[in-house]
Amino acid sequence: MNDAAQTAHGTTGFTPRVFSGIQPSGGLTLGNYLGALKRFADAQDAGTETVYCMVDMHAITVWQDPAALKRQTRELAAGFIASGIDPERSILFNQSQVAEHAQLAWIFNCVARMGWMRRMTQWKDKAGKNSEEASLGLFAYPALMAADILLYHATHVPVGEDQKQHVELTRDIAAKFNHDYGVDFFPITEPVIEGAATRVMSLRDGSKKMSKSDPSDMSRINMTDDADTIANKIRKARTDPEALPSEAEGLTDRPEARNLVNIYAALSDQSVAEVLADVGGKQFSEFKPMLAELAVDKMAPISGEMARLMENPSEIDAILARGAERAREIASPILKRTYEIVGMVGA
Ligand code: TYM
Repeated sequence: MNDAAQTAHGTTGFTPRVFSGIQPSGGLTLGNYLGALKRFADAQDAGTETVYCMVDMHAITVWQDPAALKRQTRELAAGFIASGIDPERSILFNQSQVAEHAQLAWIFNCVARMGWMRRMTQWKDKAGKNSEEASLGLFAYPALMAADILLYHATHVPVGEDQKQHVELTRDIAAKFNHDYGVDFFPITEPVIEGAATRVMSLRDGSKKMSKSDPSDMSRINMTDDADTIANKIRKARTDPEALPSEAEGLTDRPEARNLVNIYAALSDQSVAEVLADVGGKQFSEFKPMLAELAVDKMAPISGEMARLMENPSEIDAILARGAERAREIASPILKRTYEIVGMVGA
């Protein structure tokens, strides 16, 4: 399908619905918070229908210890709730409990092409040179992600920069399905990659993404870090010797400075221009304590609330079970209709 046709179909005629997911692979970072969770809470508060998923089936595309997976899934659910996602106003559940995800993913495995998957940068990064040893699930990962999104006819998917390619592939899968079967059934979902913190970088190296897999714990702020740890990591963050500029152009070629300003902007709900109008001309010796105070102010209550919620795992499990039921109410008719379109008898 050409671009014009995609735009013509787009998401018109579909009820606005936000969907996004996070892997329960352990170790939520400030990158997950600013790039995803905080924005998920904002979308919910804006009044759109919001569906959020702990994608445990994606997590097992690489090895996960079973006991750790359970703990991580509950911790992620606690992270969602502590970040302001209200399980009454949003649908919050874990992927494996809504079997329709796996069922639609199979259909999409038959729509997507090998070449599309092979081009995915996440596949190349994660499988590396040893792709013969990678799981088949890791290769098919983006088709499952497309199923997550399209099972709810989601129109908007808030994600960080690193997931853009996967959402674009979701659009390709929807367009090919619609084209092959001569229907206008799946929306051409929009990725939503907005705000100052769609790519939060390492505190040690401004050219690398902040990630739970970085060997240095000082490179990231974990959502479970306490106030002292957060402040200490910001104090020790790498910077350059220059004062802060008054305008965003002055951050060009200063990745560490840009990252800290982006983090400040996202945490304080300001634009980079607004932050720089305020702090331009200051040295890092002055800016870092401001950032540390802001980060502690915003993040420490979240880690405290996560710890509190984790004391009551059965409550978390009940929330996820109820969320799965509500998710199924949307997903089941869409899967049924998909089966009918494909020509499966009995659907
Ligand atoms: P995952 O679990 O790696 O990350 C979850 C979300 O956090 C964002 N993120 C960041 N944003 C800014 N800066 C960072 N340093 C940073 N690190 C992580 C990610 O962009 C993402 O939005 N494939 C997805 C999970 C998924 C999904 C979906 C997402 C499965 N199905 C359907 C959306 C819709 C993933 O691995 O995200």
